[in-house]
Amino acid sequence: MMNQKTIILKIGGSVITDKNGELEAKTEIINRLAEEIKKANLDNLLIVHGGGSFGHPMAKKYAIKEGLKQEEQKIGFAETHHIMTVLNGLVMDALIWHNVPALSVTPSSCIIAKNGRIHLFEENILRKLLKMGIAPVLYGDTILDDQLGFTVISGDQIASHLANKFGVSRIVMGVDVDGLFDSDPKDTKNPKLYDQLNLEELESIKNNIGTSTSSDVTGGMIGKVNELISAIEQGIPVSIVNANKRNRVYKALIGAKVEGTILKKE
Ligand code: IPE
Repeated sequence: MMNQKTIILKIGGSVITDKNGELEAKTEIINRLAEEIKKANLDNLLIVHGGGSFGHPMAKKYAIKEGLKQEEQKIGFAETHHIMTVLNGLVMDALIWHNVPALSVTPSSCIIAKNGRIHLFEENILRKLLKMGIAPVLYGDTILDDQLGFTVISGDQIASHLANKFGVSRIVMGVDVDGLFDSDPKDTKNPKLYDQLNLEELESIKNNIGTSTSSDVTGGMIGKVNELISAIEQGIPVSIVNANKRNRVYKALIGAKVEGTILKKE
C-alpha cells in the first residue's frame, strides 16, 4: 500500500560504530541493516542515525553542546559536523548499494535550536520525500542555536520531534542491547528484559535503566527514554530492539513479533 503513516527507524551510534575506537565504523553491520531495510520494503520510512565514535568524542572535546563560548570552538563545530557527514556517507553508501531509495537530509541545514531543543525545523522537504516514497536519512548533528550559538542535537531528539510532528505510526529504535532491562545489562549478571512497558511503568523503572556509556554527550539510555516519552504520550508506540542481532530490525520494521521492549502509552 502506498504512503501509509510514516515509520521512523533510529539506529544508535553504538550499533554502527565501535564506541571504544576512534572513528571506527562497523561497515558489516551497516550493510546488513541496509539489507534488512531493503527487505522490509517500506515506502514510508524515515531513518535517523546516531554519532557513536564519530560525533561524540569530538563534540565532547570542543564542548559543542554547551554552546559557543570561545573562538576555538568554531573549528570544532565545523569538524564535528563534518565527521558526522562522513559517517552518514557510509550509511548512504550501504543504503543505495542495496537499492533503497534514500536521501541524506542534513540536520544542521534544516534545524535551528533554542537552548538545546529543536526550535525551527524546515520539514517540507521531508514531507515531499516521504510522499514520493524516498526515505529521508537524518542524524544527530551540530546545530545552530538561538540562545547558545550552537549545540548538539541527538538523533533521538530528531526522531521524537518528527514523530510528534508527522503523527507517525511507530518508532523503531535499533540499539546494541536486547531492549530495556531492570538493571544495566552491561554490568549486571542476570538482568531481566521487559517485553512491554506502559508510560506509568516506564516512569517507575526509569532510574534503574542503565546509564550506558558516559562518553555520550547526549545522555545514553536514560536520555533516549526521556526523549521518547513525549512521542509515547502521543500514543506512538516505540519498539526497542537489538540491531546487532540479525533480522530484529527487519521484524520490528514490518511489525512482526520480535524480541525487544515495546513502550506504549497504556
Ligand atoms: C550524536 O547523535 C551526534 C553528535 C555527537 C554530533 P546521537 O546522540 O543520536 O548519537 P548516539 O546514537 O548516541 O551515538
